[in-house]
Parts: sequence; structure tokens; C-alpha cells
Amino acid sequence: MNNIMADITALCKRRGFIYPGSEIYGGLRGFWDYGPMGVELKNNIKREWWKSMVYSRDDVVGVDAAIIMKPEVWEASGHVNAFTDPLVECKVCHKRFRADHVEILKEHETKHKEKVKWTDQKKFNLLTEASLGTTEPKQKVYLRGEITQGVFVNFKNVVDSTRIRIPFGIAQIGKAFRNEITPGNFIFRSLEFEQMELEYFVDPSSKDDMKLFEYWKNERLGWYTSLGMNENKLRFRKHSDDERAHYARSAEDIEYNAPFGWSEFEGIHHRGDWDLSRHKLKYKDPISNNEYTPYVIETSGGVDRCTLFFLIDAYCVEEKRTVLKLHPKLAPYKAAIFPLLGNKPELKVKAKDIYNKLKVRFSVTLDERGNIGKRYFAQDEIGTPLCITVDFETLTDGAVTIRERDTMKQSRVAIDKIVDYINNIL
Ligand code: GAP
Repeated sequence: MNNIMADITALCKRRGFIYPGSEIYGGLRGFWDYGPMGVELKNNIKREWWKSMVYSRDDVVGVDAAIIMKPEVWEASGHVNAFTDPLVECKVCHKRFRADHVEILKEHETKHKEKVKWTDQKKFNLLTEASLGTTEPKQKVYLRGEITQGVFVNFKNVVDSTRIRIPFGIAQIGKAFRNEITPGNFIFRSLEFEQMELEYFVDPSSKDDMKLFEYWKNERLGWYTSLGMNENKLRFRKHSDDERAHYARSAEDIEYNAPFGWSEFEGIHHRGDWDLSRHKLKYKDPISNNEYTPYVIETSGGVDRCTLFFLIDAYCVEEKRTVLKLHPKLAPYKAAIFPLLGNKPELKVKAKDIYNKLKVRFSVTLDERGNIGKRYFAQDEIGTPLCITVDFETLTDGAVTIRERDTMKQSRVAIDKIVDYINNIL
């Protein structure tokens, strides 16, 4: 099980997806950097999310709020008091752990010769503090612990500056920060991560809230399977009363069956009127003139966890190759263009010419190094769906050989049909 995680982590580093943060200074636990392949994969995920949640709908608009807000926002939202995890400390070595991570506690107990004694459970606040200003004392602020509050504090601005009317949603993608007690499982639990969220506002008197809750659950699950995630590895899990966040009336997670067990990567939450009433915000219906505090149904996905699960889901070890069978929409490159031989100028010129024409429409790469087998091997490992080879016949018949990643099937395609071929797989 852990071998798969170790193999994927190694592939991510080797091929430029994800590197440990601050690595040349020994690393900083819980922080990760995305490399040239990783940033493409992550951007593709975010772009597909935005297309499905904003562009394809009439009832959703987007915002991009500041990471740092006045501390009053976090006091009103309840995060200063209630955004906590249970913490215990080992009295032998003073390491701190999440009290609800029972397996990790047991593992730690076996490490010490003497019997481990734990401190009483304490509440540990996850908000990350920062200080602002040039004069002392500096102003204490928080890096946002969820991107969500930036939407709520702009609720009135959005209503006043657009023609959108309830029921409607506000979408946002951005960084969030949590002082996690035990970061781990590669990019699964980090201190800095990205979220992609929708806050959908509904009139409580319409009694549509639970219907919308179910609707959004299914929309979100369907989005993952539409991008190729194996539906047998996905499930919903309802939160019990004692695990729900302080703002939630009802909550269900979308979980993935990861090598380290079923794990949450998106939450669907019924936040009721918690946030807007805490920020003293109301909505006035322009037709009935009724004023009320809307309910909020939230879909809150982690970009990094979703990136990790798309990677795990796509990771395939076959007899002679390792392949990332990523959906073509998510793959960092849609195609790689090769001259059959890297030392034949006429093939190189033709390959470069095709590459130059394709690169203005798609994310593509040109690879002239090594032999063709090595180039296929490298492209399979980064999930490139198509490899396009320029050979000697190309110079006379104006066609190339296109090899498909998953089937390894090869077909001869006229150069002027390559764009259609790529569009087809997208
Ligand atoms: N606005 C609601 C909210 O933030 P959450 O369940 O606390 O809800 C939503 O977080 C998602 O954010 C999670 O499902 C997960 O994908 C991601 N997430 C939360 N904490 C994370 C962490 N420490 N590292 C990476 N992703 C995290």
C-alpha cells in the first residue's frame, strides 16, 4: 500500500509534478511546490471546475477575495473560537498528535520502550497567524482557514453589482492555510493548500434547501467521474452529529479509496444561515421586497487532494511501462511531437514546424532526445495522451504516425487533420 504512495511521490518529483517545499534548506513539513507538469495538471483541474461551475451555468458568478481579512471576520464566523482539532502530547518526547488519529497514536506508543503517557486532550486552533504593519505592536491577522468567508463578506457587493438573484451561487478558487497538527500522506494534508468552492444561496421559505443539497452532491460526484475518476473508488460519507463543523447543519464528504484508506476530498455542507447572520447580512427580494437571511449550500473541494486522487487513479504499472492514464483534458500535454531520428535535420525541421502550429492551440511538447522508445516511456509517465512522430514518409506523404497512450495503437494521420484528431480526444 505505502509502496504505491512512495512510487507516486517519486514519480511526481522525477517528472516535475510536485517537489517538497524548501527542499534545498532541508524541507518545510506540510508545504509542497508544484513543478512544470504539476502546475499544468492543477491548472487544468481548476479550469475544468470553473467551466463546469461558472461558465456552463446561468446562476453562478465568481469572485477572488483577499487571503487576509480583518480579524473581525474570523471572530464573527466562529473560527477564532471553534476552528479546532483535538490535540494530545506524548509526555515522553513531547511530540503532539491529533487525538482522533487513533492509529497514529498506537503507532507512536510502540516506538517508546517505556509506557507512553498522554496529556489531557486540548483544543488546538488551526488558524495561522501573521502580523501586518510597520510599527509596533504589529496588527495580528489570520491567513484564511477556509476561502469561504471571502465570499460571504462580499455577498452584498455581488448582489448590488450584478443582476444575479436568489437562488444563485458564488464560486471561488484560492489558497487556504491551516496549522495542521499532523500534516502527511504527501499533499493530502498540508499547511498551505487550495480550495475550490461554491456557496449557493437559497430562500429558506422555498424549502428547496435539502433538494439542492442532494442536487449538488450528485453534481460534484458526477464531475469527478466525467473526468475519468473510477466511480467504484468514490463514495459519500455523512458526518455524525459530533464531527460536523461548527457552521454545518448537515454535511457529507465525497471520499476516495486511497492507498491509505477512504479519505475525504470534498465536503458538501448545509451551512444554514450561520455565516450571513453572523456577518449581519440579509437579502432583499427585488420582486416581493421580502427581506431574509438566505441558507447556504456549499460544495468545498480541495484542489491538492483532488490532484492527488486524479494522480493515484491514473497511475498504472504495466509490464514494460508506467502510465498515467489521465483524462486528456487534465493531462499536462495533449501531445508530444517527435522527429523519428534526432540527428536528421529534415525531420527535425518538419517536427518543429508541426509543433509551432499546434502550440498556439494546445499544450504540446517537442522531444528530440534519445530514441523513440525512451520518448514514449517518458511521455507515458507524465500522461501525454498522443505521441506524434515525423518520419521519412512524412516528407513525401504529408502524414504522421499518431500513437495513443492507453492502447498504444498507432495510426497514420494527415498533418492537416492533427488538430481535429486532438480535438476529438478532448
Ligand atoms: N469551507 C468549508 C471547508 O473548508 P473543509 O471540509 O474543512 O470545509 C474542504 O475543507 C476541503 O478542503 C477538504 O475536503 C479538503 O479537500 C481540503 N482541505 C482541508 N484541509 C486540508 C489540508 N490541510 N490539506 C489539504 N487539503 C485540505
